[in-house]
Amino acid sequence: MRGLFVTFEGIDRSGKTTQARLLAEVLGDEALGVREPGGTPAGEHVRDLLKDAAIPLGAEAEALLFAAARAELVAGVIRPALEEGRVVVSDRFLDSSLAYQGGARGLGVDEVERINRFATGGLVPDLTFLLEIDPAAAAERVGESDRFEDEGSSLQQAVLEAYERLVAADPGRWRRIDATRAPSEVHAQVMAAVDAARSGARA
Ligand code: TYD
Repeated sequence: MRGLFVTFEGIDRSGKTTQARLLAEVLGDEALGVREPGGTPAGEHVRDLLKDAAIPLGAEAEALLFAAARAELVAGVIRPALEEGRVVVSDRFLDSSLAYQGGARGLGVDEVERINRFATGGLVPDLTFLLEIDPAAAAERVGESDRFEDEGSSLQQAVLEAYERLVAADPGRWRRIDATRAPSEVHAQVMAAVDAARSGARA
């Protein structure tokens, strides 16, 4: 039996992490929550490297490191859980690389998709939430800063536009959600979509 693979995407401080956690909590033992980059011993080291703005990193190396962390997570954690029939909830996945590295960094979505297909063996989420918020509004929210957030709102705007293009290219998989609303309201919308996807999967 194959479980359900749900991912959360959005610009920095869009509230994805809160929503991914809430969903995993409500689903309980049936769910497995993961975050990217990270979630495996190698992946957590790669995460530290990627987040450290003091370490110079070219765009290509950055994309490959995200893909390497993802390869470990898919092979070691996500696929085994899906094979057990669990709901895997990931705070970011492949689309983050397509939007940040492919779109905002200018490497090209197709190129970044190719390296990720190699990394993941072609695993694509069943359902992906885009938490939509204006970069200026997101910047006012509290949160830790990192390599990406330090680059300011023009990068975030480019990421948002890249996400919009991904949604337009594959509308069946994506659900857009207004992330300026209260977390409880966002969560209610998330639950409704997950319930619908699960009853669709059973039907
Ligand atoms: P994350 O820890 O999820 O930050 P936040 O909680 O603020 O969203 O992700 C770290 C940063 O890495 C974030 O700015 C987005 C970026 N990122 C990419 O550029 N490409 C990727 O493939 C992933 C997974 C994240």
